[in-house]
Amino acid sequence: MTIRVLSVVGTRPNFVKMAPLAQALTRDTSFEHVLVHTGQHYDFQMSSVFFEELELPTPDVYLGVGSGSHTMQTARVLSGLEPVLDARRPDVVLVPGDVNSTLAAALAAHQSGFPVGHVEAGLRSFDRTMPEEINRIVTDQLSDLLFIHSPEARDHLIAERRPAEGIHAVGNTMIDTLVQLRSAFSQRAAAAAFGLDPRRYVLVTLHRPALVDGPELEAALEALVTLADELPVMFPIHPRTRARIAALPSAPSHPELRLIEPLGYLDFLSLLETAAAVLTDSGGVQEESTYLGVPCFTLRENTERPVTIHQGTNQLLGLNPRRITEIPDLLSQARTPAAPPAGWDGQATSRILAVLRDSFGG
Ligand code: UD1
Ligand code: UDP
Repeated sequence: MTIRVLSVVGTRPNFVKMAPLAQALTRDTSFEHVLVHTGQHYDFQMSSVFFEELELPTPDVYLGVGSGSHTMQTARVLSGLEPVLDARRPDVVLVPGDVNSTLAAALAAHQSGFPVGHVEAGLRSFDRTMPEEINRIVTDQLSDLLFIHSPEARDHLIAERRPAEGIHAVGNTMIDTLVQLRSAFSQRAAAAAFGLDPRRYVLVTLHRPALVDGPELEAALEALVTLADELPVMFPIHPRTRARIAALPSAPSHPELRLIEPLGYLDFLSLLETAAAVLTDSGGVQEESTYLGVPCFTLRENTERPVTIHQGTNQLLGLNPRRITEIPDLLSQARTPAAPPAGWDGQATSRILAVLRDSFGG
């Protein structure tokens, strides 16, 4: 008897988290896999480039929800997914991460009576002003299988009364992708292609509304100009941030501050691997830099990924853009982690498949 799995992806980090799972579920004849792309992210550099580089199967269904308010995006996924679930009748619906597509897919599946598996369950920032925090909490409440990749996730789920038998410490699928593609991105030597010396530049990604939708964005750009006097800065710009920068009265300018389009996975990981440091507010980048041993400075007050601080390279700067100029000094105190957190080993996908076989294999 084959196990019917329907996976829902919609945004850049979803693609990175689901690529190895989607490949394995397609290859393994004990599973029948349907891949749904909600279309929350749709630009080539935010979507198709990941399908190409990560060898994700072509989606079976594309909902085309596009951009809009949280409510609109959620509503469009709900109404788009219901008929797909009715037609495909999966044994389980897999949803990764914490974006609007994740929450909406979990809710649609639950309301239609299909079990839900949440990949990356149990992360908490305890900051309910973040839309992602609400998405995490609600998705975990709706999920039957809770796949966790860090030790504190179990405590959070138990505290929220999720049953212990549904929690599975499987490891980190985003690191599976990294391990699978490491030689491909290392060989790419993106730093040289951009005319940069390894360990002599800072890579930057910023896209959280708390930073880029407010006055801190201008302060961050001013601080990046100051930083660029000391070290070249590579800043591939998320479309949300690009739109905010375009609305400012003047754009920042410095010959060593390079504002570029979002990068594909291979170029981005190649630049990350040989950077002196990364400055970010991304969730995934905190994890990848910990795995690669690259110092990470997170421009947020909190993180749902404390394991990257305790066992990794991450340091919180707070939502305080002026601290960006301290990075050259902070780098001299950066420490190298002994080993990646447990389960960040390239094997999370096979552990998830084993749980799915145990749960639905008859
Ligand atoms: C979303 C997630 C966030 C995640 C991020 C990953 C939610 C609530 N937020 O934020 O958790 O960290 O994705 O990158 O789900 N846009 C484009 N082209 C695209 C996609 C977006 O131009 O392909 C622009 C649109 O103007 C859109 C804006 O970016 O309004 C924001 O996109 P949206 O998907 O709403 O949220 P993100 O900021 O990308
Ligand atoms: N990433 C990428 N190109 C970029 C910026 C990020 O490939 O220009 C990758 C990054 O390595 C990670 C994922 O996108 O694998 C993280 O996505 P993002 O930061 O958009 O979302 P978050 O993790 O914050 O939800």
